[in-house]
Amino acid sequence: MLNTTRWPYPRIIAHRGGGTVAPENTLVALRVAASLGFGGVEFDVKLARFGVPVLMHDDTLDRTTDGRGPVVERDAAELRGLDAGIWFANEFAGEHVPTFDAAANLCRSLGLWANVEIKPDADNPEETGRIVAGLAARYWKDASPAPLLSSFAEGALAAAREAAPELPRALLVEDPPADWRRRTEALGCRALHCRHDGITATLVEAAHEAGLGILAYTVNDPGRAYVLFEMGVDAIVTDELRDIRADFLTGGGR
Ligand code: G3P
Ligand code: MG
Repeated sequence: MLNTTRWPYPRIIAHRGGGTVAPENTLVALRVAASLGFGGVEFDVKLARFGVPVLMHDDTLDRTTDGRGPVVERDAAELRGLDAGIWFANEFAGEHVPTFDAAANLCRSLGLWANVEIKPDADNPEETGRIVAGLAARYWKDASPAPLLSSFAEGALAAAREAAPELPRALLVEDPPADWRRRTEALGCRALHCRHDGITATLVEAAHEAGLGILAYTVNDPGRAYVLFEMGVDAIVTDELRDIRADFLTGGGR
């Protein structure tokens, strides 16, 4: 049974915006998720040159744009000149690398809740956490529910807490470490986000007892999604926006 105080957010969340349906971490991906009925999206934010946050998963441009090299070496104008859609499919040619500002605006106008994953390069977790959290607090001022900031980088979460203590945080892990309670408590987290295959019913129960929400990523098999929800996970992040629909729990699946 979902406790909406613990998890006041959507339970089925589109991974990197549009999952496998649209090029990841783009504005069109957010539009696709909204058009498919999703109420929540996860996307990755990292710093370009001069500390401008943009939506991007990798440290380099090579996989998801027609550019090359580190994201941090390009300023926002240079990034605007790159194509972030054609690698995925010709119909998405002309899509750009969005600024965090543009993505936040679009989420708000589409009514999409956001799980903002802070994705620093290895050498700047605090700076990325501070900038992303400070801007998120401005972009989503008075939003309810507020966006959830998550990161694998504990330094980024600590800096996010300093910059915007009012915004909720989640610790991202692959397999949950033995000391997840201590780590989440030290960072004032309200949730633990784990790779789905490391989650057990015992972990879910212990996380809930600790007052934490628990999110599973990246769940692309509907059968596994059922199992996880039976275990009591609060939310899943999925790429398969058509197989695991936004109404999976209420109408599409059970
Ligand atoms: O936030 C869940 C998931 O996005 C974490 O992994 O590598 O897809 O950002 P990744
Ligand atoms: Mg992510």
